[in-house]
Amino acid sequence: LLVKNAKQVVQVCDGGETCLIGDSMKSLALIQQNNEDGVDIVVGRDGTIVAVDHSSEIQKKYGACEFDQTLDATNMCVIPGLIDGHTHPVWAGDRVHEFSMKLAGASYMDVHKAGGGIHFTVNHTRNATEDDLYDLLRARLQSMLRCGTTTVECKSGYGLDAETEIKMLRVLERAKRELPIEISSTYCGAHAVPKGMTVKEATLDVIEVQLPRIQDLMSKGELQVENIDVFCDKGLFETEETKSILEAGVRAGLAINIHGDELHYVKAAELAASLGARAVSHLEEVSDAGIKAMAEAGSVAVLLPTTAYILRLKTPPARQMISEGVAVALGSDFNPNAYCLSMPLTMHMACVTFRMSLEEVLAAATINAAKSIGRAATHGSLEVRKVADMLIINAPRWEHFIYQMGCHQELLKMVIKRGEIV
Ligand code: NIG
Ligand code: FE
Repeated sequence: LLVKNAKQVVQVCDGGETCLIGDSMKSLALIQQNNEDGVDIVVGRDGTIVAVDHSSEIQKKYGACEFDQTLDATNMCVIPGLIDGHTHPVWAGDRVHEFSMKLAGASYMDVHKAGGGIHFTVNHTRNATEDDLYDLLRARLQSMLRCGTTTVECKSGYGLDAETEIKMLRVLERAKRELPIEISSTYCGAHAVPKGMTVKEATLDVIEVQLPRIQDLMSKGELQVENIDVFCDKGLFETEETKSILEAGVRAGLAINIHGDELHYVKAAELAASLGARAVSHLEEVSDAGIKAMAEAGSVAVLLPTTAYILRLKTPPARQMISEGVAVALGSDFNPNAYCLSMPLTMHMACVTFRMSLEEVLAAATINAAKSIGRAATHGSLEVRKVADMLIINAPRWEHFIYQMGCHQELLKMVIKRGEIV
């Protein structure tokens, strides 16, 4: 595949596996059209990038090659496919009714304690068939693809028992086989304490019942789970329970990727960093010490502007994280509470509400999100040998994609996953 004559190509990173935004923006490489010379991208048959350069250079080197397909990107821009670092896309039963409760003043925990929130979704998800859940998931993932997401982290967590958690993870496996979007699966059995159980019982159930069954299915090749998640907060799984669950997860070969310090400060960031976490999400209430610990451990902060917005939470200290050397990533946090499938909208919100620059949100939704799911060596930037996941934007400057709110169908000319148009 040859993408020809683009006006701008934003590679994002030139030569590194991560982009610690804040220390320097030089890693956000931008190749621009100069005079008549556009920018070309050559993709190999294996779906990886072979070359990115000015058209005259590509012509010199590859002029004699026959391409299966040539896409004319005249007056358009190319950026890496977006990576959504945090979603909960497998569930039945929306919670539109709770939106009005929250608008009337109920807090997230008020709704949760009244038996709604996650519990409401758990009831519906337990009762749904695998086919029902798959149909719901497919529509959501297709919508994400249409908004430019080419790779997505997807959590279980609306089962809270072995049977339903495994059902959710199986639904994700089917999506991996049948859809072009790429998925990193996360087991989140400790998303809430199921009704009728104490937190101690729920913790034991995760460690002694759910995890061993999942591990068994992983060893048989029936499930491919990459990460373990816990909703670590006051009144949910607190630091002690979280620690034992995460240790069990690590023994099962999973990478740590948790919900932490969202509603209350519970030292979740410190704990996760001490266990070598790949990522911690939310972090609205994180402490200075937590930020320091994450920077030292190299744990990625996955920030979720839609949730902070919809629940009117404190703004996570994105600027402080960036200046202290924490890699900041972004996620849509798609779930029945924050119903957003769009990364461009999420990025726009991060610019305004978290005071991040356009360059920072692009790195956060590409290379840094890749790092949060352990894919920075292969994904997240338009570099030679990486997978050719890219978006062709029908605008003379790439920033239009973030600047223009809401409707991306007009702007997003093409979504390419592993060198194929989807
Ligand atoms: O990321 N904070 C915990 N989990 C989700 C919400 C899940 C739900 O309310 O269904 C989140 O916001
Ligand atoms: Fe979440």
